[in-house]
Amino acid sequence: MRPVVIAIDGPAGAGKSTIAKALARDLGIAYLDTGAMYRGVTFAVLRKGLSATDVDAVGRVAQAVEFAQTTDALYVDDVDATAAIRSPEVDAAVSHIAANSVVRDEMRLRQRQWIADHNGGVVEGRDIGSVVFPDATLKVYLVATPLVRAERRVAQHGGDVAEIARAIAERDERD
Ligand code: DC
Repeated sequence: MRPVVIAIDGPAGAGKSTIAKALARDLGIAYLDTGAMYRGVTFAVLRKGLSATDVDAVGRVAQAVEFAQTTDALYVDDVDATAAIRSPEVDAAVSHIAANSVVRDEMRLRQRQWIADHNGGVVEGRDIGSVVFPDATLKVYLVATPLVRAERRVAQHGGDVAEIARAIAERDERD
C-alpha cells in the first residue's frame, strides 16, 4: 500500500505548522517541516560566511549539509539551529536560498526519502502538494489575510504588526 502523505501548503504565517503538527499528532504519523530545511541550508550558508546569492557555493552547501530534524528541533551539522533558523537574518536570506534550483532539487530528494523512511507523514511547505508529492493522499492549501498572518507572527515571536505585515508582503512577492 502507498504511504499516506498529507501535504500542507500556504503562505507564511497562515498557520501551516500549527495545523500540520496537530494533524500528525492526532493521526499518530510523522511530521516534516520543509520550510525548516530551507532555513537550515540558509543557516549553514550564513555560518560559513557565504553569500546567499552565490549560486554555486550555496548549491554545494545544500548537497553536503546534514540535518537531524524532530517535530520541534533542527540540528544542522550537529549544531542546534532551532532558534537561529527563525532569526531576522535567516528570514531575510531564505528566499534567495529557496530560489536556487540545486537547493530545491536536493531538498525534494531528501523529502521523498524522508517519506519512504517514515512510511508516510504530514509534510508542510510551499511546493509540497504541487511539486514534491503531486499524488498526496490529501492536499490542504491554507490561507489567511496578511493582517491575520502578521498578528500570528507577532504572537509567536513579538514585533510590530504593521512592520511584520510589510515584511510578509515583501516575502510573498519574492517567494
Ligand atoms: O514556511 P517557511 O516560512 O518556514 O519557509 C521558509 C522559506 O522556504 C520561504 O522562503 C519559502 C521556502 N520554502 C519553499 O520554497 N519550499 C518549501 N517546500 C518550503 C519552504
